[in-house]
Amino acid sequence: MTAINSVTDLTLDGDVAVITLNSPPVNALSANVREGLFEGFKAAIADPAARSIVLICEGRTFIAGADITEFGGAMKGPSLQDVQDTMENSPKPVVAAIHGTALGGGLEVALVANYRVGVPSARFGLPEVNLGLLPGAGGTQRLPRVVGPEKALEMMTSGRHAPAKEALAMGLIDELVEEGKLKEGAIAFARKAVAEGRPLVKVRDNNSKVEAARGKPEIFAEFRKANARKFRGFLAPEYNIRCIEAAVNLPFAEGLGVERKLFGELMSGSQSAAQRYSFFAERQAQKIPDVADDTPLIPIKKVGVIGAGTMGGGISMNFANVGIAVVIVEQKQEPLDRGLATIRKNYERTAARGGITAAQVEERMALITGSLSMEDSFADVDLVIEAVFERMDIKKDIFTKLDAICKPGAILATNTSGLNIDEIASVTKRPEAVIGLHFFSPANVMKLLEIVRADHTSKSVIATSMKLAKQIGKVAALVGVCPGFVGNRILGARQREAQKLVLEGAMPWDVDRVLYDFGFPMGPFAMSDLAGLDIGWVKEKSNGATIRDVLCEADRRGQKTGAGYYDYDENRNANPSPFTEKVIHDFIVKSGANPRTIGDEEILERCIYPMINEGMKILEEGKAIRASDIDVVWQNGYGWPVYRGGPMWYGDQIGAAKVLAKMQEFQATMGDEFKPAAALEKLVADGKKFSDL
Ligand code: CAA
Repeated sequence: MTAINSVTDLTLDGDVAVITLNSPPVNALSANVREGLFEGFKAAIADPAARSIVLICEGRTFIAGADITEFGGAMKGPSLQDVQDTMENSPKPVVAAIHGTALGGGLEVALVANYRVGVPSARFGLPEVNLGLLPGAGGTQRLPRVVGPEKALEMMTSGRHAPAKEALAMGLIDELVEEGKLKEGAIAFARKAVAEGRPLVKVRDNNSKVEAARGKPEIFAEFRKANARKFRGFLAPEYNIRCIEAAVNLPFAEGLGVERKLFGELMSGSQSAAQRYSFFAERQAQKIPDVADDTPLIPIKKVGVIGAGTMGGGISMNFANVGIAVVIVEQKQEPLDRGLATIRKNYERTAARGGITAAQVEERMALITGSLSMEDSFADVDLVIEAVFERMDIKKDIFTKLDAICKPGAILATNTSGLNIDEIASVTKRPEAVIGLHFFSPANVMKLLEIVRADHTSKSVIATSMKLAKQIGKVAALVGVCPGFVGNRILGARQREAQKLVLEGAMPWDVDRVLYDFGFPMGPFAMSDLAGLDIGWVKEKSNGATIRDVLCEADRRGQKTGAGYYDYDENRNANPSPFTEKVIHDFIVKSGANPRTIGDEEILERCIYPMINEGMKILEEGKAIRASDIDVVWQNGYGWPVYRGGPMWYGDQIGAAKVLAKMQEFQATMGDEFKPAAALEKLVADGKKFSDL
């Protein structure tokens, strides 16, 4: 064995040279890895005893991409292009042996090998789009040549990781190798390639699939049209599409030129900077300073859920999806049956779309049982999640019962979206077992899990909850107990301003348009119409005191009644409503004020800056660990546009000083609701950035 450098070895297995990379955690293409590959391939090519070359990785995965931490700095050592040129021009067959994930630059390295083999659990993708980028090492020109432009469009604009079986079917790998026997399989493949005198195929020369699509611009036009909504606001999907168009219409070398130019634009732009930040923010959020990595975990084999409504059902599906048994308790048979039927319908819809198989529907349903009795069902659960009505007395009653029923060591969780969890925990004799697991509706779809740590929650319970979140595919952020926690508390700041703006003369559709154009999927008033204006509205108590009261009293309760803030046509298209406009106008006149014209800039600043300010209050109270955790919450739970990083990241783009100055100006003219957080004043005085927190 020859050590090429600290992360690369070269060994000879008979006449096959094996280059092994070992650069934890994910063998990313750092300067060291590039050097190892460059020198390793040169040495293998020069070794007369080697007739073929296998590239394989140690650890959990094949190369998972470029080293994202290097982006934005000066590149050291050989470039990825140098590595790829050496591999692609090798006079001996090169075989990439793939396990784990071959992603981004990793797949691009594999695509300059002559052959690729992988184990059944391996996955393949070009996920750069999720970092606001495109594959910048020839992937945009090579992938369409292997899988065809249509498939490349779908893979590159979604960033999806395709499983090995699919990769084999679409020609991305040449052979599947038995799980656990990758090295032997790859060496055997390499030997066979030599023995059979197989040609040194190069993906770059394989033009048949791109040529077949030449002169068919409709492929791209239709793809853009079909995905316009999904791609709205993002640059990277469009740039990926342009590169695939170049692959179809231009010779390989010219296509590479287009790729290089567009990659450079994205890399130096603000969207990718925000998206790369988000990648690390999500991972950072997993790290809890006072909870050590080796904190003992509580094994979770069976989960109890209280409530078979939309929330309880969605929560249950998360666990069944990963093979964890769930028992759902309801008070009456009819809502229980309805809840279970809804879960089945959801799974069947996913199956009809090809997301899971019919057998998987049955497997998952078999893991979910229903019951009318906590006493009968919860004695052996490892975790119970309460998802009932948001009322403190009901929650306390449930937790008193859970304390009596559940086994010692079980985690007792509440899905409350803002009630005081310390108060809930206080009715139990084991407050250390109590935690908030705040799912977002629909709970089987939304990525965010706000994990709420109460005063006495044990580290083990926190560590287990964080791990479980990852297991069920959620993005978790740990927050502290305060009204609304992090997400809803910041939402409250925005809602307050949205309502006030309307009472000063802005129309709901003006506010919505500004926030939609900013990148939110919808504005607050459209959102209210969708959710139903009557949530929390009580007919008997309604006295026309608010705009909402008046709208609800006129049976304008949102989309479901065909009218709310907006009027809706039969296709649920929203139109500005003269009725709402008059209601608003009457309110303003009654208050003795004059409606004024409010510009888009003021709408945006009034809605967004108080959110940033609220974020600072949350940080100063220690209810979030870091500014980036707040951004994780808002991106994954509230539709904050990913390419704008999150409220705190956005604050840095605006500049903390400007945010403070505006808050002070608003405070002077509109009152103390705009009072800047002390932490914001300090941040500016110290000349620091939000991201420093
Ligand atoms: N560069 C640097 N660090 C990386 C990395 C990368 N490409 N990918 C992962 N890491 C780090 C993570 O930050 C994390 O570090 P910490 O433990 O310090 O938090 C660690 O590796 C493990 O990552 P995960 O927690 O995400 O582990 P996982 O097992 O859940 O997932 C993964 C593994 C699927 C590879 C996931 O990390 C991932 O999707 N990585 C990004 C892949 C990617 O986007 N590749 C393209 C890069 S851009 C590119 O390649 C441009 C080009 O064309 C040349």
